Amino acid sequence: MAEKKHRVIQWATGVVGSAALKYFIENPVIDLVGVYVTNPEKVGKDAGDLVGLPKTGVLATNDEAAILAMDADCVLFAPSMMTPPIEMVCQLLESGKNVVSPAGPFLPNKWIPEEAARVEAACKAGNSSFHGCGIHPGFSGDILPITLLRLMNRVDCVEVSEVIDKVRNPMIYTEIMGFGTDCDELLANPRRSPETYKFFYSSMAMIAEALGVEIEQVTVKFEVAKALKDISHEFGLVKEGTCGGQHYEWTAWSGGAPIIVYHFYWQLGPDIDPVWETGEAMYRVRIHGDPPLECHLMGQQDPDGRHPFLGLPWTGLVGCTVVPQVCDAAPGVVSHFDLGVVKPKGLVRR
Ligand SMILES: NC(=O)c1ccc[n+]([C@@H]2O[C@H](COP(=O)([O-])OP(=O)(O)OC[C@H]3O[C@@H](n4cnc5c(N)ncnc54)[C@H](OP(=O)(O)O)[C@@H]3O)[C@@H](O)[C@H]2O)c1
Repeated sequence: MAEKKHRVIQWATGVVGSAALKYFIENPVIDLVGVYVTNPEKVGKDAGDLVGLPKTGVLATNDEAAILAMDADCVLFAPSMMTPPIEMVCQLLESGKNVVSPAGPFLPNKWIPEEAARVEAACKAGNSSFHGCGIHPGFSGDILPITLLRLMNRVDCVEVSEVIDKVRNPMIYTEIMGFGTDCDELLANPRRSPETYKFFYSSMAMIAEALGVEIEQVTVKFEVAKALKDISHEFGLVKEGTCGGQHYEWTAWSGGAPIIVYHFYWQLGPDIDPVWETGEAMYRVRIHGDPPLECHLMGQQDPDGRHPFLGLPWTGLVGCTVVPQVCDAAPGVVSHFDLGVVKPKGLVRR
């Protein structure tokens, strides 16, 4: 049976956007109709050329008005984190296009009521839907643990950890996040603000809702590890004695006890003190209770025996695979609970 095709625009072609663009070009239930780029070297290039695929006939543009005027069902909106994207998200929604976005805002979220109201109003004006996507915030911190709850008899606490070895998996964020700086200075001025958990709150709140509990407060902890020697990575050199590892921990409390804990362990290899994790890149869910459960989400082993960090492509793909359902959803902000079990289309191609 022929599947209905969805006309899609890819907005920005960074790491996340490129994974999405490749998906849209290759997936038979998607018609790629537009690509928005900011990089002048990409303007006018064929979408296929941007991701090493055959030509598509769709040329990348930096013309926002042309994108807004296009006839499309959905925009996968993935610009860099440096730009607050809410106004453009709303203009796209008002133009009648559904938006799936890893660039936030993650909704529903009680900490950003004005933005939430603005997005709802834009959906109403455009008869369109908005869905925030990502690996974390997103899949690893909400749908995955919520699905795993089905295997539990009793739950005491849900613990989700992001573990990344940033030497093995180089990222531009390494310097921005303060690796290589003085440890005491970083402890006093963490690069992730103590308020950052609020961006992840919609994921925490969904787990709490699934468990039927109220979150009373969220506490924040931050630790750093010292580099035991000079450590070189793709974007620079971290000197011995400076920051070579970081652990952020956010704990949601209910009934006076931790109910959901998010950990972020970012390390530059094993030559740091303390070493919290082995450094294998993964998202790990531990559900404490009866029976205690542990689930690791990781890329398949590479020839060097290690598992690559796929968080960025997964952030694009978890948005791509939900596009048809978001297009078919009733107008408004669409959460995982609204979507139910998603059935990705066009994945089997023999
Ligand atoms: N929820 C999650 O789990 C999660 C995980 C990872 C990332 N994210 C979010 O996903 C988004 C994309 O991440 P990424 O890793 O792909 O980022 P990236 O590699 O830095 O790429 C972002 C792209 O945005 C465009 N861009 C650059 N400067 C811009 C500006 N000043 N204004 C608007 N656009 C600009 C560029 O597109 P062109 O090259 O096409 O010109 C750039 O390649 C970010 O907002 C990030 O925070 C979410």
